[in-house]
Amino acid sequence: MVESKVNDLMERIVALCKRRGFIFQSSEIYGGINGFWDYGPLGAELKRNIKEAWWQAMTRARDDVAGLEATIIMHPKIWEASGHATTFADPMTDCLLTKKRFRADQIDPQSGDVYHFAGAKDATPAGVGKQCDDPYAVLIATGKHPEYARKIARQFYQQRGIAQPELLGERTEKVVNSTRYNPENGSLLTEPRQFNLMFKTYVGPVESAENLAWLRPETAQAIFAQFKNVLEVSRQKVPFGICQIGKAFRNEINPRNFTFRSREFEQMELEFFIRPDEAVEAICGHVAKSAGPGHPGQPQPDWGWQIWHQYWVEERLRFYESIGLPRASLVEYWQKPEELAHYARATVDILYKFPFSKRDEKGELTGEELEGIAARSDFDLSQHQRFSGKGMGVYDEELKLAWPKLAEAKKAELSNRYFEARLKYLGKTGESAADAERLARADAANLAKGNYVPHVIEPSAGVDRLALALLCNAYCEDQAPDEKGKLESRVVMRFHPRTAPVKVAVFPLLKNKPALVAKALEVRDLLRPHMTVFYDEAGAIGRRYRRQDEAGTPFGVTIDFETLGEQGAELKDTVTLRDRDTMKQQRVKMNELLPILSERIR
Ligand code: GAP
Repeated sequence: MVESKVNDLMERIVALCKRRGFIFQSSEIYGGINGFWDYGPLGAELKRNIKEAWWQAMTRARDDVAGLEATIIMHPKIWEASGHATTFADPMTDCLLTKKRFRADQIDPQSGDVYHFAGAKDATPAGVGKQCDDPYAVLIATGKHPEYARKIARQFYQQRGIAQPELLGERTEKVVNSTRYNPENGSLLTEPRQFNLMFKTYVGPVESAENLAWLRPETAQAIFAQFKNVLEVSRQKVPFGICQIGKAFRNEINPRNFTFRSREFEQMELEFFIRPDEAVEAICGHVAKSAGPGHPGQPQPDWGWQIWHQYWVEERLRFYESIGLPRASLVEYWQKPEELAHYARATVDILYKFPFSKRDEKGELTGEELEGIAARSDFDLSQHQRFSGKGMGVYDEELKLAWPKLAEAKKAELSNRYFEARLKYLGKTGESAADAERLARADAANLAKGNYVPHVIEPSAGVDRLALALLCNAYCEDQAPDEKGKLESRVVMRFHPRTAPVKVAVFPLLKNKPALVAKALEVRDLLRPHMTVFYDEAGAIGRRYRRQDEAGTPFGVTIDFETLGEQGAELKDTVTLRDRDTMKQQRVKMNELLPILSERIR
């Protein structure tokens, strides 16, 4: 698809979101605020359904995951321990002409001719002697008229008080794949600077350094901070997980692609704690090897981090399929070693092929991240242990009992491996070499007694990105017959019934027939305690169907004269059930409606 068609499709999706009340610009009446979005009536239901489905799959349907709901503002030390206070930054650069801000790492490389200028002097009689010596440069495509570069440069010097700039010291240079110029106008950009993405606030009335706090940029850290409490109260044993859904805030330099990169958004995160491989090997005698790609099946005691990681990637892919994202719309992207965080052993990003995703050389959409599934070693809990001074390790009875039974050579091998891993971590924390070695030895000695800091697998997803993926996936334009059977175009949102904001719409055929209205209200009240129902009596029935097609309502129930028994006793208390996608209508008994619909929306 060519670029303009892609943009056109996104524009139509964005327009539908506003028109039908999925998503509005935040603070719209004041001109909006960049990077913030509100969810209208349908959007709020969609998001709620996404979160419900995730919560159901990740904790309620499992014995080994417990839930948590923590605060957005936490002790600032949390962000020192996690590394966010120092390293959660993006490189930022500004256009020297328009002041537009870019993420330096997101600028597409450009090649061409750079026109450098040493400065400019004022050519007006009033400006004699006036000069600006700021160097400046403009990149233009090879072959483009140099006057374009000079025009941009004059605008730059005009902004610096030179009314009629006469450019000085012009020279040219060829560049290849440079990211130092504004792709929109060729102007030189400022040197990239690191910009911390966390929003600051102050706790209490005094805006002082000691009262400084941050809005959380991810929900994960609260899970680590509460690890010991949850472990204690939930009576879980490693391997087990803690999950949380909640708001996160990032002062993104360049919010873009509708809600895809927002400044306020929601995350759904699981931290799944596992034994270090050395403990698995001590207990089971070996660490299971992956049998190849695909789902590895039910969790087993001999799984090490690799199979647990594979398991969670596959579980998450299954989840996306279960709510209506076809496997073909998803991409499993394995981060390359140079892309991994220093503590991560592997990270898989699940990408969705959004209409605005880039295309590869074959013209295929490459996808944008919906979720990251990272094997994060024992980094997070170890960091909180160091910064808080509170033990984050667990005691594992099985390990304690297994260790003395190991052959001496095996004990030495496992101890040594564990020591090396801990030393690698401690060596990066700023401890002196001697202290790191002493602490790592103590950790290895503790392993032999059944103690270790759990490792973690982290599937981390965004609610808003998933909502946007579901909206893009559902959007469809097709033809449907109007009342007279003439085909007309319709927009239909083909949501999976599980995530559809409204499950069923109930329509009396005519609103001025009290018996029809009464029956329709009876049907609405019958269904309402079990699912989201929309009652609509306004307008021609075809129009009402169209409205629900656009809202993505999978089922419509119409109450007509047959329902009242006016066309024969055998049809009394039957209704028509219309399917959004096939547009087929089926006559069903009113008392069978609830079981039929409950089954279809499950
Ligand atoms: N705890 C790990 C973590 O936060 P991340 O990749 O930075 O990892 C996880 O974020 C997920 O959160 C992303 O895959 C994405 O779905 C969502 N997310 C991150 N930044 C976002 C933003 N600015 N707007 C919307 N969603 C975002």
